[in-house]
Formats: sequence, structure tokens, C-alpha cells
Amino acid sequence: MKELCGRIAVVTGGAHGIGFGLATRFLQEGMKVVVADNDSDGLARAEKELSRSGEVLTVDTDVADPDSVQALADATMDRFGAVHVLCNNAGVGGLQRFETTSLATWNWTLGVNLWGAVHGCHIFLPLLAAQDEAYIVNTASMSGFLTGPYLQPYTVSKAGVVALSEALANEFAKEYPHIGVAVLCPAYTATSIRHDERNAPAGHVPRSLADPATAELREAVDSMIEKEGISADAVADLVVRGMAERKTHIFPHPEWLDRWQERVDKVRAQV
Ligand SMILES: NC(=O)c1ccc[n+]([C@@H]2O[C@H](COP(=O)([O-])OP(=O)(O)OC[C@H]3O[C@@H](n4cnc5c(N)ncnc54)[C@H](O)[C@@H]3O)[C@@H](O)[C@H]2O)c1
Repeated sequence: MKELCGRIAVVTGGAHGIGFGLATRFLQEGMKVVVADNDSDGLARAEKELSRSGEVLTVDTDVADPDSVQALADATMDRFGAVHVLCNNAGVGGLQRFETTSLATWNWTLGVNLWGAVHGCHIFLPLLAAQDEAYIVNTASMSGFLTGPYLQPYTVSKAGVVALSEALANEFAKEYPHIGVAVLCPAYTATSIRHDERNAPAGHVPRSLADPATAELREAVDSMIEKEGISADAVADLVVRGMAERKTHIFPHPEWLDRWQERVDKVRAQV
């Protein structure tokens, strides 16, 4: 997608982190931006900051709830009358042992990370299809390609987002050639993801209570994200470039692909 100026972008999870970086970058390109998030305070702050750079609509949205995503699409159409770029980016993390991870936590994580992307693609497709040019960018993670320990719901959800995105990219190449689909797979990015439990549903027991044994590991990973993570702005820059080059995969940390190759080699060695 070459021409962004004047187009409309919807970014879920746009109140913080990578989503906020995407919204900022799209405004710099002259786009109008709809920021969707379930953190009302964060949304209010984002609106104040982002509206200095252009036209912004914020919509309180729970991506895990299809009715809420439909209301987001309706609000977008009421205000702007079109959608050209959809970023299904809202996500929650999660690092704890399998034995302490409740089914409520599984439902929450898959609901936001995987169903959120499915809801977005499903509900926005007719709106994107009506444009001359459009793009879907689904935020997965390197965890969609690599399967480390202590991250089961997250890894499963992100592998699902990779699969969804690749399947749609293949299908749309025939069915909707004017809609590009990319999966964004960052590794450590300096965002507020350590606060991902901020609006967790009641059934989810905070990890610090459910699994104190992995507290040190969580702290180490959070600290890596904060200290060694690349910036959300750098990730957003790669997304804009990726769309211009009609990429299907956007890897802000290409060096991690070596570990993916090791996984492929390990599997191959056994067949
Ligand atoms: N930060 C990293 O190192 C990293 C690495 C790989 C992938 N990612 C992915 O990037 C995406 C953005 O995360 P981030 O790192 O910017 O974290 P973040 O916490 O800063 O931003 C995530 C946003 O999603 C919102 N959100 C959470 N649940 C929601 C829901 N049900 N409905 C709507 N919005 C909801 C949050 O309020 C927040 O604004 C996520 O999908 C995450 O899995 C992050």
C-alpha cells in the first residue's frame, strides 16, 4: 500500500505501546486514526496526545467481544465513512507455569490475542474490501514461531495469529488482491506490557498470586523488555515500510529467525 495520506487506520490496543506507536506514525503520514482500547484512562491520555498531530477518534473497545468490535466498526464508519488499514494489535502477555494457569486465564489470553484478531478481520473485511487499496496488519510475536516454556496461552494465541495471517494473505491474494495482509512478529519491545493485567477479567488470578514461584523470571523478562527492547516507534516505522513493500511478514528482530531455523532443523533431524 503506497498511499497512506488521507486514508483511515484503525488500531486496536492503541492506548499504549506498539499500538500507540502505530497511531503516532500513521498520523505523521497524514492518516486519520481510530484508536481502540479497553483502557479508558489510557485512551483519554492517548486522545489528548495524538490529537495534537491530526484527526483521532478513540473508541472504548474490548476486542474479545465481537459486539464491541462491531460497535468499533460502526463508530469508524459513522465518523470517517471508510477504513483502509486495520491493525489487530491489542494483546496481553503472560508468563507462568502451566499447572497454575487457570482456564479463565486461557480464555482471557486467547480471547484478546487470537479471537481479537479473528473478530477484527471478520467484521472489518467488507469495509476494507470496499476500498481501492487496504491492509490488515496482525500483531503476533516471535512467540508465534518459537515455543519457549512458561508461556503456553500466549504462544498458542500468537501461533494462531501467524497461521490466521498467512492463511488470509494466501487466500486474499486470489479473492481480494487489493487487500494486503501482514503479520508483525516483534521480540522484545519497550512497552507497557508488564501492566497487561490492568483490565483482566474477574476470573483471571493475578500471576503474582497464582504463581509466585515464577516471579523472578517474570521480573527478568520485564526488565529485558524495558532495558533491551526496541522502541514502539521503530516497530511502527517497519510496519509502514512493510506495507509500502507489500510484505506479508514484518520482523523487527530478524536475528531471532536463527532460533526458528534451529527449531526446523531439530524437527528435520527426527524424520
Ligand atoms: N512488548 C513486547 O516485547 C512484545 C513482543 C512481541 C509481541 N508483542 C505484542 O504487541 C502487541 C502490543 O503489545 P504492547 O507490547 O504494545 O503492550 P501494551 O500493554 O503496551 O499495549 C497493549 C494494549 O492492548 C490493550 N488491550 C488489552 N486487552 C484489550 C482488549 N481486550 N481490548 C482492547 N484493547 C486491549 C491494552 O490496554 C494496551 O493498550 C500485543 O499483541 C503483544 O502481544 C509485544
